[in-house]
Amino acid sequence: MTTPPVEQAPIRSATDVNLSDWNFWARSQEEREHAFRLLRELDRPAFFEEPEVTFAQTRGIGYHALVRHADILEASRNPEVFCSGDGGATSILDMPAELAEYFGSMINMDDPRHARLRRIVSRAFTPRMIKQFEADVDAAAVRIVDELLATGTGCDFVTEVAAKLPLKIICDMMGIPEKDYGFVFDRSNIILGASDPEYVSDRGGIAHALLTAGMELQQLVQDLAVHRLENPTDDLTSSLVNANIDGERLTAQELGSFFILLVVAGNETTRNAISYGMRLLTLNPGQKRLWLEDVEGRAAGAVEEIVRLAAPVNFMRRKVTRDHVMNGNLYRQGEKVVLYYWSANRDERVFDDPLRFDILRAPNPHVGFGGPGPHFCLGAHLARREITVMFRELLRRVPRIEAGEPERLFSSFINGIKHMRCDF
Ligand code: HEM
Repeated sequence: MTTPPVEQAPIRSATDVNLSDWNFWARSQEEREHAFRLLRELDRPAFFEEPEVTFAQTRGIGYHALVRHADILEASRNPEVFCSGDGGATSILDMPAELAEYFGSMINMDDPRHARLRRIVSRAFTPRMIKQFEADVDAAAVRIVDELLATGTGCDFVTEVAAKLPLKIICDMMGIPEKDYGFVFDRSNIILGASDPEYVSDRGGIAHALLTAGMELQQLVQDLAVHRLENPTDDLTSSLVNANIDGERLTAQELGSFFILLVVAGNETTRNAISYGMRLLTLNPGQKRLWLEDVEGRAAGAVEEIVRLAAPVNFMRRKVTRDHVMNGNLYRQGEKVVLYYWSANRDERVFDDPLRFDILRAPNPHVGFGGPGPHFCLGAHLARREITVMFRELLRRVPRIEAGEPERLFSSFINGIKHMRCDF
């Protein structure tokens, strides 16, 4: 993996697109849109060899790029055929055992193990429970905007606004004290931004950086867990360490990898949705005016539309457990499929004028939070609430805020914005 060149040959046809070439992910948003449109026009999903990365021992036989909405729905509904275990859902290459120790939580598992873990935490993420957090989310957003207004007339929107809310909320839910927020933020940046030289500058040291970040987060939760076992509170860590499902408790390793999944998934996704939302509102002043006319009433539609176009999680992958025909195409046992949510959210068969940002779009069956199935995003209610409240505060109190050009994360997995200048 190297830092990509700036100049690249134009993409003229689908055969010019190679999603396993790291340079592809350095292309502009417009070039990506064009490339995925070409892939969606193919009669059957393109097949790619697996990418080369420094931390994987062996490359598998390759993967089908599922880029159409219909294929992603079907694969998500059928986890017996398209499984998340057996190497994991969060990377195209099979995750090496030493990384699975830290990153092998339920997102990378199948039922019944997946269902058992999901049951333990899902109680903390129901709309009713999120309602109890509403006051905290409101107060945190108010404080972020207070601090923003106190800084003057401009900021790095990502670090000073978008990142702060999800970080505070997930840390509060887990019982992590404020003094450790920066520690958690830096480690979760490494875990999902390891391919970007800003977070891991030594290209040969990615595996080491991932392992260290995983180990450090695991240590943090284990220290907290020891304390919560004896002094339980109403935080999520207390319910996790004291959870007793069918006579079983979470092992220390399960607790650690669960915690890593929650802090990373909770932080690195909502932040990007808020940042992209800001950029979309700047580029579409008519839509911003529309939202300003009825901030509360139009929030739900606007938030879905932001998540559709931002698609902070670009893909998840599955492995094919047996030969299977889906939407007329054969998938063979042992092959992989990669579900490109970002592309499905732009599928012209489903979305009218898909690149248009339209906060009144209805229906809006985007798959930004994943497809229908057992792995549908556990934090969707929470994320929606955070995005809603953050924009409510911004639109009401800083309505003239405008975003500059985003500095994008170099990653094939996360559609991230690292920094974005804002003026108000
Ligand atoms: C805009 C924000 C978010 C986006 C776009 C997003 C996206 C996703 C996607 C696409 C999946 C599907 C994984 C799969 O099918 O394999 C997922 C799963 C998950 N998300 Fe989110 N997420 C967001 C916010 C959050 C938050 C705030 C949390 C927690 C605090 C969270 C926790 C999880 C967990 C634990 C899973 C795994 C569920 C399972 O395997 O059963 N997410 N998310």
